[in-house]
Amino acid sequence: MVSIKKPDEKKRLAVFCSGNGSNFKALHKRIREKHLPCDIVLCLSNNSQCGAMTYARENNIDAVHLSTKTHPIAQDYTNAMLRKLQQHRIDLILLAGYMKKIPNDVIKAYPKKILNIHPSLLPKFGGEGMFGLHVHQAVVAAKEPESGATVHFVDADYDTGEVILQRRVPVLPDDSPESLAERVLAVEHQLYADALEKILSEA
Ligand code: GAR
Repeated sequence: MVSIKKPDEKKRLAVFCSGNGSNFKALHKRIREKHLPCDIVLCLSNNSQCGAMTYARENNIDAVHLSTKTHPIAQDYTNAMLRKLQQHRIDLILLAGYMKKIPNDVIKAYPKKILNIHPSLLPKFGGEGMFGLHVHQAVVAAKEPESGATVHFVDADYDTGEVILQRRVPVLPDDSPESLAERVLAVEHQLYADALEKILSEA
């Protein structure tokens, strides 16, 4: 359920992460530097010890661990996620290196309110199993001349929702998956913050 607000009120954001959370940190930095009209109020993760959760705790952002370990029954897990989002009156959800599928009930409750960043030029190198280094390994193996990053809305499928912003990154002749990942990640940090600004300006 998305709350109805006056247009001058700040949007309340949730960030979902599984790992380092460098995109989360970049988003948080941009929000503070440019005084964007939003606050990150919730970090949700399937990994209680990941860098993103540590960063959230250090920055007084509610850090919530939700996984099939905390909630072995699928519907309980979905309900717990919806409850947390509702408790925090979340307007927008940003997936930032979140490696779990979002339950369909959550996608239905937040239409065009869930964003994801993917480290390739979608629709290329997207889909189930395409995440993190796997993406860059596939790009290098296919000898692609360029890769990049995409921010898109999340729909019920993997990496298929409407594209919000995309940016290209050349693949260099001596690139390894790791070196390509590093350059794409630097671009992601700018791109995700730009996409957030775009969405906020259109809201
Ligand atoms: C990023 O490269 C992000 O695009 C990717 O995981 C990394 C997370 O890094 N996400 C996916 O592959 C989703 N399909 P971070 O935790 O440092 O932001």
